[in-house]
Amino acid sequence: MAAVPHDISYAAYADRIESALAALDLDTKARLLAGQDGWSLPAVPEIGLASLVMSDGPVGVRGVRWSPEDPSVLLPSPTALAATWDPELARTAGRLLAQEARRKGVHVLLAPTVNMHRTPVGGRHFECYSEDPLLTGAIGTDYVRGVQDGGVGTTVKHWVANDSETDRFTVDVRADARALREIYMAPFERIVTEAAPWGIMSAYNRVNGLTMTEHDAYQNGVLRGEWGFDGYIVSDWTAARDTAGCANGGTDVAMPGPNTVYGEKLAAAVREGTVAEETVDAMVRRVLLLAARVGILDGAPPAVSGDRLPDRLDGAAVSRTIARRSFVLLRNEPGPDGTSALPLNSRALRKVALIGAAADKARVLGGGSATVCPEHVISPVEGLRAALPENVELVCARGADPSTKLHPAGGNFSPRATMVGTDDEVLGTYPLTEAQVQWVGELPDGIDSSKLDHVELGGVYTPSVGGTHAFSLTGVGDFELTVGGTTLFRGKNVPPGDDPFVALSGAEELRFDIELNAGEQVEVRVRHVPLKMFDGPMVWVQFGLGHAEPSDSPDAELDQAVAAAAAADVAIVVVATTEDVESEGFDRESLELPGRQNELVARVAAVNPHTVVVVNAGSPVEMEWADDVAAVLLTWFPGQECGAALADVLLGAHEPGGRLPTTWPARKEDCPVLRVTPTDGALAYEEGVFIGYRAWERTGAEPRYWFGHGLGYTTWEYVAGDFVPSDDPDGELLGALTVDVRNTGHRPGREVVQAYLSAADQAPAQEADVERPVRWLVGFAPAEAGPGETVRVTIPVPRRAAEVWNADNDAWQLLPGQYAIEAGRSLADRRVQVTVPVHDLRPAGEPMR
Ligand code: BGC
Repeated sequence: MAAVPHDISYAAYADRIESALAALDLDTKARLLAGQDGWSLPAVPEIGLASLVMSDGPVGVRGVRWSPEDPSVLLPSPTALAATWDPELARTAGRLLAQEARRKGVHVLLAPTVNMHRTPVGGRHFECYSEDPLLTGAIGTDYVRGVQDGGVGTTVKHWVANDSETDRFTVDVRADARALREIYMAPFERIVTEAAPWGIMSAYNRVNGLTMTEHDAYQNGVLRGEWGFDGYIVSDWTAARDTAGCANGGTDVAMPGPNTVYGEKLAAAVREGTVAEETVDAMVRRVLLLAARVGILDGAPPAVSGDRLPDRLDGAAVSRTIARRSFVLLRNEPGPDGTSALPLNSRALRKVALIGAAADKARVLGGGSATVCPEHVISPVEGLRAALPENVELVCARGADPSTKLHPAGGNFSPRATMVGTDDEVLGTYPLTEAQVQWVGELPDGIDSSKLDHVELGGVYTPSVGGTHAFSLTGVGDFELTVGGTTLFRGKNVPPGDDPFVALSGAEELRFDIELNAGEQVEVRVRHVPLKMFDGPMVWVQFGLGHAEPSDSPDAELDQAVAAAAAADVAIVVVATTEDVESEGFDRESLELPGRQNELVARVAAVNPHTVVVVNAGSPVEMEWADDVAAVLLTWFPGQECGAALADVLLGAHEPGGRLPTTWPARKEDCPVLRVTPTDGALAYEEGVFIGYRAWERTGAEPRYWFGHGLGYTTWEYVAGDFVPSDDPDGELLGALTVDVRNTGHRPGREVVQAYLSAADQAPAQEADVERPVRWLVGFAPAEAGPGETVRVTIPVPRRAAEVWNADNDAWQLLPGQYAIEAGRSLADRRVQVTVPVHDLRPAGEPMR
């Protein structure tokens, strides 16, 4: 059921908002605009306003507690959602997240992330959708609609040009107006004008000299003035650095609290005359409008409530559907019997070798603020075991472990965590499945964080193997580690760098060895005093005890995996990146798979011609063995249902539905854009609009796989295409493309028909002195058909497709002339072509912004 909100404009709520505003004094208004803690704004009971709660986003709703005791439904990574090329599914994802937000008392989701894949070395590449602004905008628009269908706000982030992580708090992105408008701002523009988000998050970085939280021209000018954005703008966490600069520059709320540049400092700025009280009133109005929409302002009907809320969704089912629809089948060669390597025919199988550390511990999400604690994770091993017929033997081998850190101690260790108070009293004890503690935001069970002195983590461990055991500590602060009465460490682990978010989650691992005897119990104990990284009540207790038993040498592990592969009908190798590779807070140095995984795949492929490689990464990795294996299936970071969705696709219950939302390089050095390190504080986007396929086609370099590529389990014929020009005098559309496609295979399937525009006549571009890409995506549509069936898809082509940003006039400019649209299966596999005459239908003198 579609949720249809009543009028939720400012005008509709004006009476209620104005009466609330009139009842507030300056100090209260200023206080309302500053976080009271990590995630919320203060309540103002005298005007009937409850506390507004925000939470990350985008793959789940974390809530104010970032801890396994408060788990979340975990969806696949944003790259995966974009790989579905399915805005409807993005809307379903949004609705599920709204349902989660309501369950957790969250009013605003800090998502979606719609920065661009400028280069695959960007650390948050996995958290953004695509290198193409149209695809990013289409997915983002319906994601926002979905969340807001459920009466929960969004903050589209990070406005703008926050496309890499190096020096992220200070970097000054130098980009020309055309690149900003056509690439980096374009998804925000579409989302703002089509989905009307209730919030936007202002980025850490500067753009052309001015920090974004103070960027009056982009925040008040572009977002509010040009595009009519009526929501609130919240700073990225700690990005608001100057009271008057931020208030006058359009940032309404400074997060996190309690020490922000707003609150008392904002009231003082008004008294000193650097910020006008009307400016503060306008900021408060926008927060009250948000509060009214999400239903926390008494007397204001929320946007959606009661029976207008969307139907309940099953989180696991949604996560699994998105996962299998996002998996991209990059390669699928016929095996010795002439049939394609995938799907596997489980009736003909006797023995399957499942290889790789990630087969058991897959990476289901990327690192940083996007992490949530999933309610459960189905590993590839569990998923396949459950789906394979009982008579098929599943042999598992690790082969090569890419992780540089030890896995948290668990299994026959049964750890417990105990909070000890300042008077040595026990505040609470918690059994854990793994020796990893994460209490962020609040302590469990409402325990008062000011009473906490230290945490003890420990238990009795009985080694099943004798020899050299490795233990490790992660986290920042003071530690004491004793094993069997021997103190292995007493001291401090200090944070690397000054980015608190990176420091807390990415601190160095301290490692120690000790000899233990098989069957002899030892007591293992960690005493930890967390380092306080934030002022105020923000709780951040995050540390762990890693452990590894004596194991075979890496060479022996590789040999075992190869032997298992040689003896199996099919070898499935799951390769993955690690948390040290893809995360918020830093960029990637290499696109290589970490550890000895390349060697593992090459050796397995050499002994088993039916080798299927499953790539578990949120963004591109080099795959030097890609042409030597039978099949390559890209699963991204697939979320909690990982193994179940993988089994669905490998065994053919469902076809893999994904198409690449980003060009996949063969080697890092081939990538046209790689620079993310600022020079003297500035990062020049010298390439202008030429990122992704726009850049690859310009340089003539050949990637491993082109944008849009992805195979299914059936085959398609593109029968015909036609273009009907629009006679719409508003001129929003150039016309409509229709494409007839026929399923020529033996099973039902789903095709993503992609439409690329190119200019046959270059004269208008030359006249306007702009270089345009060879071709660019202007629309797409799914086609679903049974075997032998022909279906027609219609793709509306917007006027914007033939426009460029004219920086001299500060306006969009249509370049009329002869164009062609090619429709096909990917940027490189174009099947039908139609000509498209473009005329300016708009009455003269009506430039559209
Ligand atoms: C990230 C944001 C996130 C915020 C709150 C920041 O470091 O850049 O995306 O919403 O933290 O966790």
